[in-house]
Amino acid sequence: CGIVGYVGPRQAQDVVVEGLRRLEYRGYDSAGVALVVPDADGAGPGGRIAEAKKAGKLANLEKHVADAPLPPSHTGIGHTRWATHGAPNDVNAHPHLGHERRVALVHNGIIENFAELRSRLEADDHVLVSETDTEVVAHLVELQVQSGVDLTTAMQRVCQVLEGAFTLVAIDGQDPDRVVAARRNSPLVVGVGEGENFLGSDVAAFIEHTREALELGQDQVVSITRDGVEITDFHGEPAEAQAYHVDWDLSAAEKDGHDWFMRKEIFEQPRAVADSLLGRRSQSGLLQLDEMRLSDDEIRDIDKIIIIACGTSFYAGMVAKYAIEHWTRIPVEVELASEFRYRDPILDYSTLVVAISQSGETADTLQAIRHARTQRSKVLAICNTNGSTIPRESDAVIYTHAGPEIGVASTKGFLTQLVACYLLALYVAQVKGTRYGDEVDEVMAQLEAIPEQIETVLAGAQQIYDLAAEHVDTRSVLFLGRHAGYPVALEGALKLKELAYIHAEGFAAGELKHGPIALVEPGLPILCVVPPRGRDQLHEKMISGIQEVRARGARTICLAEEGDTKIEPYADVLIRLPRVPVLLQPLVATVPLQLFACELATVMGHDVDQPRNLAKSVTVE
Ligand code: G6P
Repeated sequence: CGIVGYVGPRQAQDVVVEGLRRLEYRGYDSAGVALVVPDADGAGPGGRIAEAKKAGKLANLEKHVADAPLPPSHTGIGHTRWATHGAPNDVNAHPHLGHERRVALVHNGIIENFAELRSRLEADDHVLVSETDTEVVAHLVELQVQSGVDLTTAMQRVCQVLEGAFTLVAIDGQDPDRVVAARRNSPLVVGVGEGENFLGSDVAAFIEHTREALELGQDQVVSITRDGVEITDFHGEPAEAQAYHVDWDLSAAEKDGHDWFMRKEIFEQPRAVADSLLGRRSQSGLLQLDEMRLSDDEIRDIDKIIIIACGTSFYAGMVAKYAIEHWTRIPVEVELASEFRYRDPILDYSTLVVAISQSGETADTLQAIRHARTQRSKVLAICNTNGSTIPRESDAVIYTHAGPEIGVASTKGFLTQLVACYLLALYVAQVKGTRYGDEVDEVMAQLEAIPEQIETVLAGAQQIYDLAAEHVDTRSVLFLGRHAGYPVALEGALKLKELAYIHAEGFAAGELKHGPIALVEPGLPILCVVPPRGRDQLHEKMISGIQEVRARGARTICLAEEGDTKIEPYADVLIRLPRVPVLLQPLVATVPLQLFACELATVMGHDVDQPRNLAKSVTVE
């Protein structure tokens, strides 16, 4: 979601709506604005909140406020939404108001303990009109200001009881020149102007007005007035934020300083993976999936799983097969959505069909789930787009929380699909009892360590960029992998086709000798995803495959875990990966391949965000 706040001499509605326009790429399910309208004489406290919000793109809100402008005001907040809790409609749009309509608040993130907080409010006769977790916070902050404390103290107190990730920005109808915000695990920057101050999810929100910014730290609350910025922690102790000068222009700012949305999205992956893992465990430590909507009995009845998807999502499905079969012992088939219904698949009520789609709108996948449902199979969607058609037509859904993906070639969408697949596998294992608590705990801990491990891979981006630059004249690249690394090889090759328009193919390393090895000639670059060392001989078998191609003159570029010295003699180029179990390796091994394709396409002069002939979501069969 995108968040904006403003206090200053200009008309707040204009500044806020313009800020939202700059942030619209962060989500466009709905948009809204709220202003503090002082009493007519403008003296002293007293005043009220005026707000407007509309489902759909920002243009709907813009039209609405053009037809019916809000009253003049110099203090306002705004929000553009990427729906998580609750469908994208007018009621669920932010800002949300407290019970007495005195406080208005916008939010980015997920409040994990909102259900419990909501029932407490309802027990006290609060009427909550939306399905969002945000409205609960608006009510809580308002209760505090009604009890006599100022908005800043109210925000500090409420943050102490919230769990999860959030950026919150609020205004109080009785405090006309102040906007208060808080942040935990979700972005927030302050734009420092002269006689005016700004808040934004990122600097794009205010870069036209000021380039002086403060980046808030974890668990901080900030209060802005026309001339002041005060920062504290959640307990009211003074705190410091990092000041910086922004030297990007507007178009770069929307991309957070990156040249392409795709590169920005690659670098957002640690956050996207972490967000997709948030709130998946109950207090007792059991895995819980919010919109699972399949009963334990229905899950126990599953005797076959068929995964259907297209493109990159299909490769996520291939990785899922390894994880689901290993942890649940349920047989899994993975099928291209466009092929599925034409082969008369064998389906019944005990088959679970899992549809993976970032956009939730891919027509091939949609038709496949419609077919599955006519055969009485249950359908579960793994999707990044709240309220889109595929999850709406499914029996159950696991939402990934990647945030909007703008680059046509999927990156953070893919990694978060993998996370959702692992969660699904563990959840089914937990229900069926094929894996017990401590094993689930162990894998969850490994998953929770992944964001930091992806950071390590990203920190080594320069090595990949240099490598890409060396390959600017290359016309063909092969990718090899085994086990869960095989779909990674396929995804690496797909990225290169999509972005650099060169011939690229992925193979299962063991299959090479049965045919494709005929393609190998001196100098051919081959990217090899080397499995972690383990008891299963996979690593040794991979090395044999690498030797076979090297003996024929190929240039081997090996992705191998830290500490793997055995690979060294066989690698012309060695890219190190963090140590993770083989099943989770795709989460780290895919990242260098994304960087390689993005950089190679860049040095070749192609449009990385909008490659030729492709579309982000293909709504025709
Ligand atoms: C299009 C995109 C691919 C994407 C595929 C599936 O072909 O160009 O990047 O992987 O659709 O999209 P979905 O939204 O269903 O995951």
